[in-house]
Amino acid sequence: MTNTTVETRPIEGQKPGTSGLRKKTDVFMTPGYLENYVQSIFEGVGGIAGKTLVVGGDGRYFNDSAIQTILKMASAAGAKKLIVGQNGLLSTPAASNIIRRRGAFGGLILSASHNPGGLHGDFGLKFNMANGGPANEAVTSAIFEHTRTITVYRIAQAPDVDLSVIGTTAIGGSEIEIIDPVSDYVDLMETLFDFPAIAAMFASGFTMRFDAMHAATGPYAKAILEGRLGAPVGTVVNAVPLPDFGGGHPDPNPIYAKELYDLMASADAPDMGAASDGDGDRNIVIGRGAVVTPSDSLAMIAANAHLAKGYTKGLAGVARSMPTSGAVDRVAAKLGIDCYETPTGWKFFGNLLDAGKVTLCGEESAGTGSDHVREKDGVWAVLMWLNIQAVRKETIAAIQSGHWAEFGRTFYTRHDYEAVDLDAANGLMANLRRRFGDMPGQTVGPLEISAADDFAYTDPVDGSVTTGQGIRIFFKGGERLVFRLSGTGTQGATIRVYLEKFEPDASRHRLDAQEALADVIAAADSLAGIGERTGRTAPDVIT
Ligand code: G6P
Ligand code: ZN
Repeated sequence: MTNTTVETRPIEGQKPGTSGLRKKTDVFMTPGYLENYVQSIFEGVGGIAGKTLVVGGDGRYFNDSAIQTILKMASAAGAKKLIVGQNGLLSTPAASNIIRRRGAFGGLILSASHNPGGLHGDFGLKFNMANGGPANEAVTSAIFEHTRTITVYRIAQAPDVDLSVIGTTAIGGSEIEIIDPVSDYVDLMETLFDFPAIAAMFASGFTMRFDAMHAATGPYAKAILEGRLGAPVGTVVNAVPLPDFGGGHPDPNPIYAKELYDLMASADAPDMGAASDGDGDRNIVIGRGAVVTPSDSLAMIAANAHLAKGYTKGLAGVARSMPTSGAVDRVAAKLGIDCYETPTGWKFFGNLLDAGKVTLCGEESAGTGSDHVREKDGVWAVLMWLNIQAVRKETIAAIQSGHWAEFGRTFYTRHDYEAVDLDAANGLMANLRRRFGDMPGQTVGPLEISAADDFAYTDPVDGSVTTGQGIRIFFKGGERLVFRLSGTGTQGATIRVYLEKFEPDASRHRLDAQEALADVIAAADSLAGIGERTGRTAPDVIT
């Protein structure tokens, strides 16, 4: 076996965002692009000689050939062993589990999450560390620094590995083990949830539709829901992962999972609807006629998690990202546990989970998870909701109403303006940053501003400080408005506007969120000049 050293030079723009490096697939496929980044990962983590790495992705276009390159480069870098999902497939939470369970040094996860796939779609690559979670800020910056100074990469001259055959092979001195991507994950879920109780619920006629969106969760959901829990065949739809996700956009939001939302609002709705995203870490849960917002899902899981066998001891604490609504804070206060507010990005939960400060975490961006892995976990959240219903013997709509009656409802919506001109988006944020200091005391329509800041976070475990995470504007009546730019887009800028309002009055709990938040929506436009600066008259996506 020979290893080749290839001369290269730095490529602009290889700075990882909220979740690794995301680019257009054809950019990733330019000669040297992937290679430069992979070599920079290996250097940024301090070398991988003698180490074991997990490799897998969501099956999108370029997944398989990118994996071949990674395996050959890892061999040239002296890796001891590479553990790879069969056919290159591993959902993000399953990869996290395998890193932890097998004591690996880390893993390379190939995904652009909920972004569309295909040659003209998106591709992504991120490094997860030994705890199973996304690389922290220090490692991420070390990787980026290396992309700016790289001069060579190394790759083994070897034939491709057949990724379809479970078993062990080798490239040079590196052992390659191809594993079933699903079985370890199913075992883990069985330790957390009461499979017999959920199976009994399906046996007594409970109905469900799980939309895997032709992405990574298909095989997992089929094995668990239809295989282990006895749900009828056909419960999981779009279950076969496809390189282009069937031409769809694998994001379980009301626009891209419209069919599911429409079904759940119709007379034919099953008891529960659920969907996950490209790499299986996001989830959305919908009851018959009752959409559960991700922020509410986090709060409701916090209030009910003790009903599932993996969580009977209760929660050590909870964490949410800053733009996520304050609904979970109210549950934490009642339970007498700590609630942490972190910047957007699952990596910020890692230290809190590792230190045992929190058991449960969640984000408004359809992410919920716990200390069982170090990623958010779509199938986990769906099983949690099934377990809660099996124990409470109540519908999702009833659990939701009961929760609001007990804790009050936090109305919540997010308005996204996608592919906005970069300068316009940066100008909008810069303008808010200049003005927020003067905002307290000002009124906007019927609302009076009580406080405003640019969110900064000091990690309570390692003391690291992260600044500039979004402009928060608080109003006297308990409303909140947040502006930030997405860190996961690949085209122009995406402006995210997060709006919420606490409502204690139960007679108003079934109002439509857009109506209930009308004053806050108007305040957002008048404070930031969204229409005027971006030329947009309406958001592209409302969640
Ligand atoms: C990914 C990350 C999440 C994050 C989400 C939205 O899914 O794993 O932690 O909340 O992206 O990020 P963005 O920067 O686009 O708002
Ligand atoms: Zn994802």
